[in-house]
Amino acid sequence: METFGRYQLVRRLAVGGMAELYLARQVGPEGFEKQLVVKRILPQLAGNQDFVAMFLDEARIAARLAHPNVVQVFDFGEAQGSPYLVMEYLQGEDLRKIWRQAQALRLPIPQALTCRIASEVCAGLDHAHKQTDPSGRPLGIIHRDVSPQNILVSYDGAVKLVDFGIAKAADTAVVTRSGVLKGKYAYMSPEQAAGRPLDHRTDVFALGVVVYELLTGARLFKRDSDRATLAAVAACEVEPPSAREPRVPADLSALVMRALERDPTQRYQEARAFGEALEGWLHAHHLPAASTHLTAYLRHLFPEPLAIAPTPTAPPPPPTAPVLTGTATGAWPVRGLALAAALGALLALGLALAAWRL
Ligand SMILES: Nc1ncnc2c1ncn2[C@@H]1O[C@H](COP(=O)(O)OP(=O)(O)O)[C@@H](O)[C@H]1O
Ligand SMILES: [Mg+2]
Repeated sequence: METFGRYQLVRRLAVGGMAELYLARQVGPEGFEKQLVVKRILPQLAGNQDFVAMFLDEARIAARLAHPNVVQVFDFGEAQGSPYLVMEYLQGEDLRKIWRQAQALRLPIPQALTCRIASEVCAGLDHAHKQTDPSGRPLGIIHRDVSPQNILVSYDGAVKLVDFGIAKAADTAVVTRSGVLKGKYAYMSPEQAAGRPLDHRTDVFALGVVVYELLTGARLFKRDSDRATLAAVAACEVEPPSAREPRVPADLSALVMRALERDPTQRYQEARAFGEALEGWLHAHHLPAASTHLTAYLRHLFPEPLAIAPTPTAPPPPPTAPVLTGTATGAWPVRGLALAAALGALLALGLALAAWRL
C-alpha cells in the first residue's frame, strides 16, 4: 500500500485527464482510522503551471463549500511534488455508471428519482452560486462541468456534486490557457460552447441536459465528433423530452425545456428555482422519491456494492451496455422487465406443477 503524505492509498478509484483519485486511509493513534478520497494531480502534470493553478483553484473553491449536496473537501497539501486534496469518501456510484447499468439491465431510472437527484444537485449548485467572500461580496462561483460523471449518488441515498476542477470564482487570478474550451462538450450551454462570458445559468442548462438524458434514455447533444457536438449545442434545437420518449408527461417535459432555453434570460434564473419546479412536480403527482427509494433502486442496479474491486492496473474494459444512439422513442425498453416477469411466471408454474404431481 502506497503511503502518500499522511495517507495510505488503498486503491485507485478513477483517473482523469488531470488528476487521479484514490480511496485512502488516514490512520491515527488509538485505532483511529478514516476512509477518505485523495485526489492528486497526475505526476506527469505536476510541473505544468496551468494544471497546478487549476488544481489550486479547485481546492480554494471547494474549501469554501459546505453543503449536504457538495462533496466535502477536508485537506489540501503537497506530497512527492504533487498537490493533492482530500475529501469525504462517498460509497456510491456516479450518474454515468448508474445510467449505463440502468441501460444494461433495462431498468430505467424512475422519473421521480430523476427529479429527486436533480433537485438535490440544484441545492448544491445554489449553495456554490451564492457563496460570498467574508465581506459579503458574491464570488460568482460557477461549476462549469455539471455532467453525469460529476454527480454521485451514495448507497444511503445522498446526492452530491463533485469536481470543482474547472469551476471558476469571478475573482480568481488563475489564467487558464486561452482558447481552450474546458468542460464536456455534450453538457455545455450554448454560451459556453461559443466561448462567451458565463454566469451561473450555464450550470442550470447543463443540469437540464443531464435531466433530459435521464428521462429519455437518449443523449441530447452528443454526436460522433467534438465538432458536431459543439455545433449541436450551439444550434440548441431541442425536441421536447415528451416527444422523444412518450412516457415523459407533458408538464415534466415543459419544466425541463425551461432549463434548456438557449437564451439564459429565459431559463430558471437560479438553480434553486429549477429545483423548486422539480419538487413541485413531485409534490403535485404525489410521487415517492425519498432517499430510501433512491437506495432501493441503487441496490437493485448494483446488488453487491460492498465487494472490493481489485486495484485496476489497466484501463477498464469498455462498457457492456449498448451505447445509446438517440433513437426517437423506446430508448428505455421494458422488454427486460417483461422477460423477468415471464421467467417468474414460468418458475411459479413449474413449482405448482411439481407440487401437484407430488
Ligand atoms: N469523494 C468521492 N467519493 C467517491 N468517488 C468519487 C469521489 N469523487 C470523485 N469520485 C469518482 O471519481 C471520478 C473522478 O473524480 P473527479 O473529481 O470528477 O475527477 P476528474 O477531475 O478527473 O473528473 C468521479 O466521476 C467519481 O466517479
Ligand atoms: Mg469529473
